[in-house]
Amino acid sequence: KVLILDYGSQYTQLIARVVRELGYYSQVVQPDEDVDVSDIGALILSGGPASVYEPNAPRLPSWFEAYKGKVLGICYGMQLLAHEMGGKVEPGELAEYGRTEIVIVEDDPIFENVPRESTVWMSHSDVVKVLPKGFKVTAHSKNGMIVSASDRERFWLLQFHPEVRHTQFGRQMLQNFLSRICGLKPNWNLEDFITQKIEELRKELSGKKVIAALSGGVDSSVACVLVHRAIGTNLRCVFVDHGLLRKNEPEEVMDVFKNMLQLNVVKIDARERFLSKLKGVDDPEKKRKIIGEEFIRVFEQEAKSYGATHLVQGTIYSDVIESAKSGKKTAAIKSHHNVGGLPEKMDLKIVEPLRNLFKDEVRIVGEMLGIPRSVIHRQPFPGPGLAVRVIGPVDEEKLDILREADYILIETLRETGWYEKIWQAFAVLLPVRSVGVRGDRRAYDYVLAIRCVDSVEGMTADWSKIPHDVLDLISRRILNGVKGVGRVVYDISSKPPATIEWE
Ligand code: XMP
Repeated sequence: KVLILDYGSQYTQLIARVVRELGYYSQVVQPDEDVDVSDIGALILSGGPASVYEPNAPRLPSWFEAYKGKVLGICYGMQLLAHEMGGKVEPGELAEYGRTEIVIVEDDPIFENVPRESTVWMSHSDVVKVLPKGFKVTAHSKNGMIVSASDRERFWLLQFHPEVRHTQFGRQMLQNFLSRICGLKPNWNLEDFITQKIEELRKELSGKKVIAALSGGVDSSVACVLVHRAIGTNLRCVFVDHGLLRKNEPEEVMDVFKNMLQLNVVKIDARERFLSKLKGVDDPEKKRKIIGEEFIRVFEQEAKSYGATHLVQGTIYSDVIESAKSGKKTAAIKSHHNVGGLPEKMDLKIVEPLRNLFKDEVRIVGEMLGIPRSVIHRQPFPGPGLAVRVIGPVDEEKLDILREADYILIETLRETGWYEKIWQAFAVLLPVRSVGVRGDRRAYDYVLAIRCVDSVEGMTADWSKIPHDVLDLISRRILNGVKGVGRVVYDISSKPPATIEWE
């Protein structure tokens, strides 16, 4: 496998994904993690925010000496290797950042099929000034900075990021490193993954009673269908209707998973339970906590009455990598609830069939398993559902207004071809009323906000630049079609400082 050492770059996961797309299995590890070096076919050191001359800068792992294979150092990875082998790293005077032109000055297998001049993406201000003994410069930036070097035996160094799209021939360089330099044969494909995983799950779970929380979201859906392929109806999927779902959602989920895919699914109607607990609750964190806890209660009851010994979770590889980054605690902005967050104390063995897959891979596996496109390419939907989109206390009347408006929004986006261009789109009902005029009469109705964002994995987001005529159509349809809404506004806040959801 291809091992990627994570020095904290925002692009580490991207390296791992590109390597997989090229057909090689990749795994990300932290520099302080233990590793079996005999398993490593190629080693890549990621970039990172540190400077090698800082006292606490992350260093090479303890097993590095034991590893005898080839190494590619990217950005901080390059600086660290150069520094450790006796080279000299300094802050660059002209901090080169963003798109940069480079010129190849020496033949090297990493530049096979790469033109002499091309554009790359740079994101670090330190540079290697003096190379360690035995190394040769293989490319310069137009300003004369060393951007690539190698000893042609074990170490290849790149100051820029081959994994990002802005580096014109980056994929070619990674491909060259893995196939020409390391001699690896591409052997990672998702068809084999599915066959092997089903076989594995069958061995582990046959004759056992297995339970899963199915939300209808991408990860839990694919996990459930995969386990169903292995053990059939011994997997019971629990779909909790907490009354905070979108229009037609419970019917659609049951239709796809029960009728079409023939899974053993039970729908629990818990609308009363959730709505009565939420009555009069105004604080967003309290709402989130109540929903998370109530969900666990409902699910625990089901697990017990079914007599389950195993629990399927839709954990994916990005979750695993994120939680492995120890010591980098971030401030709690929102307490997220989702079906992946069921507690360990439930005394069930956890089964995580998608633990090694990235989101794009999960989608491909889902398609291969025959899950409809509408599920696989579904926009994300928060566990607490519409409760965090009715601002202030939640009640049935407000939920109905929101459901109707949200439905019109989504239908209009689909009709105009915008649904799949947007990362996430939804309506938010504000606890504010405003004056209007309807058929010569004074009206006093709620304000509804439309939130549409472009994002990569929800970490940051920008509001979507939807054309005015589409916004106009959305607004007219909602104002004409939804009783109780008197004004529609469009949210033009980016994340940060705003978040995607309003609560
Ligand atoms: P925020 O509002 O934090 O949202 O910018 C980022 C992404 O996460 C989704 N979200 C949630 N997903 N449980 C979930 O499963 C939650 O409690 C939750 N809260 C927010 C949100 O819809 C967006 O995609």
